[in-house]
Amino acid sequence: MTYPIDMSVKPDVSAHFDEMTNTITYIVKDPNSNHCAIVDSVMDIDYAAGRITYEAADRLIEEINSRGLTVDWIIETHVHADHLSAAPYLQDKLGGKIGVGEKIMVVQETFGKVFNEGTEFERDGSQFDALFKDGDTYMIGSMQAFAMYTPGHTPACMVHVVGDAAFAGDTLFMPDGGSARADFPGGDAATLYDSIMKVLSLPDETRLFMCHDYGPNGRAIEWETTVAEQKAENIHVGGDKTREDFIKFRTERDEQLAMPRLIIPSLQVNMRAGEVPTDKDGNPMLKVPVNAL
Ligand SMILES: [Fe+2]
Repeated sequence: MTYPIDMSVKPDVSAHFDEMTNTITYIVKDPNSNHCAIVDSVMDIDYAAGRITYEAADRLIEEINSRGLTVDWIIETHVHADHLSAAPYLQDKLGGKIGVGEKIMVVQETFGKVFNEGTEFERDGSQFDALFKDGDTYMIGSMQAFAMYTPGHTPACMVHVVGDAAFAGDTLFMPDGGSARADFPGGDAATLYDSIMKVLSLPDETRLFMCHDYGPNGRAIEWETTVAEQKAENIHVGGDKTREDFIKFRTERDEQLAMPRLIIPSLQVNMRAGEVPTDKDGNPMLKVPVNAL
């Protein structure tokens, strides 16, 4: 696949860090117009209380409105397992199309079974406005963006590239954070390695924006790095680390990891493009499948 890379386009990127889930949401603005995209938004949940709120989304809306921006796209890099997407809430207030990788259908099939969703749960991605294939392009104002298919963490992961900026989703973390886990259903360490190499085949000076940061070893939260820095310094794939090293390390590490705190609500909501499921009477309701994950 040859991707339409154009390093002369330099989007204006603003980051919003969500402390509850260590997620970074981006507003990606066209420098030549007031058009923008939102990447990986967050809806707040107090899971113990079953309470959903919109503080993070409202802060985003306030910034977008105060800057007078028009939202063309609300992008999900993948079906997140650690936070809920606020895409429908944002779309309602701001407009824009909700886009995700077309392999969402695989994720919907897998978790449709886990959560024993009935036939009313469509597994064709129709909850989203756009389903991207590898190399598909779309416009943010005058900027052409493209989606790069990067499975491994999940089967539907995509990295979105806009000019000299790439939104890494759950492939790489900051160089001292390494990489995303590859042990969810449909995940695979070797596939993730190959996807990471695809990301690192972008030009060295590409700005890479992370989806998550956990501030390893007590450092302050960071989210921006470059392809060159990742190639040199990433603790899981950089320097002289081989594919075999990575697969062995990733597989062993993943066996030690607990499930993300919000995986149960996140999957049910995010596989529906951010809509909360409802029971037979139409009340918002989440399930907990026992010993299924
Ligand atoms: Fe993820």
